[in-house]
Amino acid sequence: MRVGQGVNELQTGLTSLFDIDIPIVQAPIGSASCPALAAAVTNAGGLGSLALSWRSPADARTAVETAMAQSTGPIVANIVLDDAAATTAPETLVACCLDADVPIVSFSFGDGSEFVDRLHANGSTVLQSVGSIDAARSAVAADIDCIVGQGIEAGGHVEGELTTLSLLPQLVDAVGEVPVIAAGGIADGRAIAAALTLGAAGVWIGTRFLATAEATIHDTYRSRLVSAESSETVLGTPFDGGWPGMAHRVLETAPVSEWVDAGRPAREKPGAGERVGTTPDGEPIERYDDVLAVPGTTGEIETLPLYAGQGVGQIDRSKPAASVVTDLATETRIALNNAPG
Ligand SMILES: Cc1cc2nc3c(=O)[nH]c(=O)nc-3n(C[C@H](O)[C@H](O)[C@H](O)COP(=O)(O)O)c2cc1C
Repeated sequence: MRVGQGVNELQTGLTSLFDIDIPIVQAPIGSASCPALAAAVTNAGGLGSLALSWRSPADARTAVETAMAQSTGPIVANIVLDDAAATTAPETLVACCLDADVPIVSFSFGDGSEFVDRLHANGSTVLQSVGSIDAARSAVAADIDCIVGQGIEAGGHVEGELTTLSLLPQLVDAVGEVPVIAAGGIADGRAIAAALTLGAAGVWIGTRFLATAEATIHDTYRSRLVSAESSETVLGTPFDGGWPGMAHRVLETAPVSEWVDAGRPAREKPGAGERVGTTPDGEPIERYDDVLAVPGTTGEIETLPLYAGQGVGQIDRSKPAASVVTDLATETRIALNNAPG
């Protein structure tokens, strides 16, 4: 029998674990994630998420409660553990998730082991993002329920040094029965089919959902995501004002090209210190600040970090998130049924 014939091709360890229909997770995408996006993805049969780390404790609480109230299924709340990055302490955000009974909590950019027992005792499922096989082994030893393996094709901050294609099968081999979710550069159904064929229980998609109608990003940023080619991204450390030294993948805008041409300097970057914009709260934004262009941001939007993964060239228009989930599910079924063999 060919893959998918006479079976529900999209039924995986992830769909069983979370009682969802489609093994597609909308990845946490910083301040661009919002309750409307998370709920739209979950209500379409996938799994929506919120990134909490750049929200105040009160905003984080409101966001998870709103997303949960608007959703017919579970949602994920993500907490970044690197002290240098987040504006609200992980401990505070874990307490918020416990109080709000968030069904699924994900940790990234750091080891969430210390929180696992408390979250399990509260009935939450715990996910850990990793960029290496060793990190996955440690997470499994700490009783994490599900691993997210992020390859370097990913948009935004990048955890490891391996491509998704290289990382994924090795993670699957290393973690036994624990489901693995594939992240990084996945933007269409063929890539999802490939990830499932390599043993992934689901996919964790950021950039494709960043371009949806619901994502809270500036229109100029959304337009660039729709028009950009995959060859136009750069992995490096240009925008590390706010998260020093952490690699990230962004569109190669003029300031990024200038930084690359200057030899990718860690310090004394061209134009450093120059004010390039203002946040919706009226805070100044300097060149190289790690600040997302959201609605209400003013100034030179293309001078800000336009985070994007290598799948960006496969996005040709901005659609509602539910349509993206449905389209991706259809494309995946077709790809699985057309697989040779
Ligand atoms: C704008 C943006 C913001 C992100 N913010 C977070 C975050 O807050 N927490 C996190 O764990 N990962 C974050 N990521 C990484 C994503 O969760 C995910 O791993 C990545 O987008 C997957 O690759 P893709 O963009 O090629 O689909 C972010 C990615 C983007 C593009």
